Amino acid sequence: MVASSNISTETGPQHSPRLWRALGLMSGTSLDGIDAAIIETDGQQHVVPGPALTIPYPEAFRERLRPVLGGVGPIAEVEDELTRRHADAVKQLVARHPETRIDIVGLHGHTILHRPAERRTWQLGDGALLANILGLDVVADFRSADVAAGGEGAPLAPLFHTALAAALPKPLAILNIGGVANVTWIGEETEVLAFDAGPGNALIDDWVRRHIGAAADFDGTFARAGCASAAHVARFLESPFFERPPPKSLDRDDFREIIPDGLSFQDGAATLTEMTAAAVAAAARHFPAPAQEWLVCGGGRHNPVMMDLLRRRIGASVRPVEEVGWDGDALEAQAFAYLAVRSVRALSLSLPSTTGVVRPMSGGRLFPGSHQGALRVNG
Ligand SMILES: Nc1ncnc2c1ncn2[C@@H]1O[C@H](COP(=O)(O)OP(=O)(O)OP(=O)(O)O)[C@@H](O)[C@H]1O
Ligand SMILES: [Mg+2]
Repeated sequence: MVASSNISTETGPQHSPRLWRALGLMSGTSLDGIDAAIIETDGQQHVVPGPALTIPYPEAFRERLRPVLGGVGPIAEVEDELTRRHADAVKQLVARHPETRIDIVGLHGHTILHRPAERRTWQLGDGALLANILGLDVVADFRSADVAAGGEGAPLAPLFHTALAAALPKPLAILNIGGVANVTWIGEETEVLAFDAGPGNALIDDWVRRHIGAAADFDGTFARAGCASAAHVARFLESPFFERPPPKSLDRDDFREIIPDGLSFQDGAATLTEMTAAAVAAAARHFPAPAQEWLVCGGGRHNPVMMDLLRRRIGASVRPVEEVGWDGDALEAQAFAYLAVRSVRALSLSLPSTTGVVRPMSGGRLFPGSHQGALRVNG
């Protein structure tokens, strides 16, 4: 279904427009680390990106986080540490830009379970603790309301993409290659359609880790040295997921079964990279009209082999978002800064055409700060 994005859609009372300095926090599905980004926004068309940073997780924390994926194990302990690491990320960003006041924080947290069909989605990250440490208002739990109302709970960045892309030629596709790959299609009349396309980097990362203990196939070195197995890719594309019309979303480890056992390390890396690109190209069949241009954000755009494969398979212009002046590593964190403001304004975070929810939905949960913490420098 395609609906007008109308990002000013109200689900609650209108307040007089004001501008917030909002700081968004995203814990990467690929377990890479925390992105923190500041924007100035009214939660509608006004978006001015500010500073951002990424704090990689130390390997030791990755090893504590990995076992709780799926919602099992010592969750409370891991959540406590994860939240404190987010607080440190905020402090580091603010320390680097002491002139920047922060009005509100959007805490996405770390998805450890995403099963919208069972009405379950779970992001670790303690909004109350973060608000307490920072003394700032924190909005967290962005996905639950959408899932409870029958939506996929994902992707949630599309309304932010739509605001950013207001002045760009349409139809336009914005592709995020993070842990999974998700796409936002924006039409000429501000219609928007968004859904998860397939696996992103997570399966490639897992493959590389399993074989040589490294975190990722940096610069596509291993994929370039290998040869993709056409048979594996063809079998992968037979999954009914690709035919299924949107809305649709994926958990990090969906498609785990396609990990190409029996292939050499480098051929496996090439095959998984080809699969990501093929899934994205397959997503385009659901667009109401072909996108003239694809703008790519997320870590996958740093992989030149992935970008070449996307260009070959999509057959349209495929460029990193930097070419239109955006920061492709900060976009998801910026989106949750934007959504935090939309949440406190009771504006919609999702639409029937982005998550399949029955009506435009607001969401998020506000944890008020004491406003006396060191970071409450506004007012
Ligand atoms: N130079 C590079 N070459 C190849 N791959 C890279 C490079 N830099 C980053 N990546 C990949 O990008 C991944 C991180 O991407 P990103 O930060 O967008 O993912 P994420 O934080 O999990 O995102 P999301 O939560 O949106 O899924 C890394 O795990 C790695 O696989
Ligand atoms: Mg990341």
